[in-house]
Amino acid sequence: MVRKAIIPAAGYGTRTLPITKVLPKEMLPICGRPAIDYLVEEAIKSGIEQILIVVSRSKNMILDYYDRSVELETYLDEKGKNHLLKEISLPNVHFQYVRQSYARGLGEAILLGKHFVGDEPFAVLLPDEIILSDKQPPLSQLIEMFKEFKGNVIGVKKTDPSLLKNYGVIQPQALREKEYTIKDIVEKPQQSPPSDLAVIGRYIFNPAIFHYLETISPGVGGEIQLTDAIKAMAQDYTSYALEIQGQSYDIAKSTEYVKLINYLCGPKED
Ligand code: G1P
Repeated sequence: MVRKAIIPAAGYGTRTLPITKVLPKEMLPICGRPAIDYLVEEAIKSGIEQILIVVSRSKNMILDYYDRSVELETYLDEKGKNHLLKEISLPNVHFQYVRQSYARGLGEAILLGKHFVGDEPFAVLLPDEIILSDKQPPLSQLIEMFKEFKGNVIGVKKTDPSLLKNYGVIQPQALREKEYTIKDIVEKPQQSPPSDLAVIGRYIFNPAIFHYLETISPGVGGEIQLTDAIKAMAQDYTSYALEIQGQSYDIAKSTEYVKLINYLCGPKED
């Protein structure tokens, strides 16, 4: 039922400079794979069949990564290294790309997906957050809730109060364990956050969100904020939040990036 996903990957990666001057943040290596590939895997495991990646001029490396390299395949074949071909096989999903010409915010990046999405519900995954879950993939946890309630579902996590100013933060109304309806949502609250439940980069939306993205005014940082569209839509349609089960890592923070790498590819304890 949720077949399409958008991954916005057009940002400058200012939190990870200087490397992101030449290497897209989404291509930061994690155990030999680019960060974005973990999201693509999460999406596929959650039943997504089509992915739109919103890129900018400097992100061609992402397109190259998800394209064949006939030259490399031929080389491996000629050298009798066919066993390595599986390392460069492509994921079983349809990719599309659109370029965001102006860095005018996450909301605008998502709006570029309007024609790709058409008239069906869709997912959004933000590549800053890699979430590991030994149960269900995070996105499929949201899809399950969406199937039941049919309203937007936003992934949240309980977050230390001192960090809430970096996130969208919801004002929740308890529904069931770890499930809420959204009474309000504030982007990067500088004081008095409405709760300790921060948005962590996984969303399921009904296509009506595009109407709100088209009509809201620029918000925090003068950008079209996805959070503001969620807020406006939540006033008209019941919207939901789910505490995602799993461990999230913000790869733009070097401590979390290192922790993730150690966890996934460091020496295993007995
Ligand atoms: C974006 C969203 C914010 C969300 C965060 C999660 O902010 O605007 O609501 O909590 O991603 O990573 P950004 O980190 O792009 O400033």
